[in-house]
Amino acid sequence: MLRETTMEPWIRAVFLVMVLFPALAEAKVRHYNFKVVMKNYTKLCSTKPIATVNGKFPGPTLRAREGDNVLVKVINDVSYNVTIHWHGIRQLRTGWSDGPAYIAQCPIQPGQSYLYNFSIIGQRGTLFWHAHISWLRATMHGAIVILPKKGTPYPFPQPVKEKIIVLAEWWKADTEAVINQGTLSGMPPNVSDAHTMNGYTGPIRNCSISSQGTYTLHVEHNKTYLLRIINAAINDEIFFRIAGHKFTVVEVDASYTKPFVTDTIYIAPGQTTNALLKADQSPSKKYLIGMSSFMDAPSVAVDNTTNYGLLRYNGGPLGSRLVLTTMPPINATKAQLNFSNALRSLNSKKYPAQVPLTIDHSLLFTTGVGVNPCATCLNGSKLVGNINNVTFVMPSIALLQAYYYNISGVFTDDFPSKPPTNFDYTIANYTGGLATMNGTKVYRLSYNATVQVVLQDTSIIAPESHPLHLHGTNFFVVGMGTGNYNATKDFKNFNLVDPVERNTIDVPTGGWTAIRFRADNPGVWFMHCHLEVHTSWGLKMAFLIENGDGPNKSIMPPPKDLPKC
Ligand code: C2O
Repeated sequence: MLRETTMEPWIRAVFLVMVLFPALAEAKVRHYNFKVVMKNYTKLCSTKPIATVNGKFPGPTLRAREGDNVLVKVINDVSYNVTIHWHGIRQLRTGWSDGPAYIAQCPIQPGQSYLYNFSIIGQRGTLFWHAHISWLRATMHGAIVILPKKGTPYPFPQPVKEKIIVLAEWWKADTEAVINQGTLSGMPPNVSDAHTMNGYTGPIRNCSISSQGTYTLHVEHNKTYLLRIINAAINDEIFFRIAGHKFTVVEVDASYTKPFVTDTIYIAPGQTTNALLKADQSPSKKYLIGMSSFMDAPSVAVDNTTNYGLLRYNGGPLGSRLVLTTMPPINATKAQLNFSNALRSLNSKKYPAQVPLTIDHSLLFTTGVGVNPCATCLNGSKLVGNINNVTFVMPSIALLQAYYYNISGVFTDDFPSKPPTNFDYTIANYTGGLATMNGTKVYRLSYNATVQVVLQDTSIIAPESHPLHLHGTNFFVVGMGTGNYNATKDFKNFNLVDPVERNTIDVPTGGWTAIRFRADNPGVWFMHCHLEVHTSWGLKMAFLIENGDGPNKSIMPPPKDLPKC
């Protein structure tokens, strides 16, 4: 028998760690290889091969448990520069693995590789990964499934099975050509030709091939499934329905919610939703699954095609009757807001909502578009995006590198805390100036500062719903409303008890959204509209979060293979 006195000190130390931190003992290292390759998808009417990870569309699913260390080797075998972003993964102190090109890292050049190395801390649920350079994420994206730690159950009834549903958009043309053409003209790029459900398009606009395959969800009668729904679309906010069935939403953006029942899921690009689906309808029928766009700005063009999948019961007759569903109208603002407003943090003892109650930085950010001169563009002008009238100009080396190595001249830290002028942001017929200023500006925060950002839509050119995404941290959505935010009234109605926690939230059309977060992750963190068209136009900025005291509150040193610009 091993007596206490004979136990080697190092064995005792390991033993102690395992007893005190059982989670550490079981955390695993997960290895993935992501090879970026061109692949022919002519059967989906595409005119060009598309950039994929491992030849798959959607790409491979990354599976891990809370606490795991994930290593993904990305090998770039295409002629484009590439980066991958692990959307919603907090990347505590590992900003080098976050992925947005020229913000967190220089791109991985053709023929090069880079090892993304991060741990999943305090998160479980559904997220997704996607390319984060130009429009490559149109074809390079896939699910991230984070299971709870071993032995930790879900805070909802255990589903019999889990099904991933990746929603996206499909262009027949090469999406890099689509955005390049848009940029050259100064006009909006072409809308997509179809929506996809796990890569299935259904019929495609102007495509001579009639059937492109339909996504089918097979279920067992009276069993409960967990749907992990991801909106990986480039520009389209989406309604999702299954005829005859209801969903119970239990999690969004890898944060548990109070369960709520709905027949319509609204999901913006960048958002993820976990919902329980009880297969409790007649097994002798089959049911349409619908996916359609939401767009309540009348002047903005959007892909208005509806894609349908099928839900079938195992053992159901082949010729079973089809149950239809009507999708909400494309401009169903109410359906969007009802869904968004119904979401609440679970806020249980085990999963408390740690909403900052005092605020160090109170910011007002207007989000919208504008028009700047462009001599070479179609009308001598181009559409631009902006936050607080600043159109973000991409630097030529990554902001994080410039910050870490003290390289001057790359960015300035004077991003404005409020718009340059006060005006009626949501007035119906705006007649003021349209031009914005260019800049590569960040907003600087000291470690652990608490921040409130009121995101205010503007009606310049057109009021429009903008799904704003923040890297490096989740935020709490403490308020949302229409019209102009009223600083003396609206904050009284903020929910500081159980607001939903997410990484992407809409600024509603002609309205505002208030978010709060704690700056406890040192690094440089991108915030941008997750409609890629608006990101391309410059609707983006970054927060610079300084180190705290000591190495555990400081950004880790960069890896040796960090790509060079
Ligand atoms: Cu999913 Cu910076 O984005």
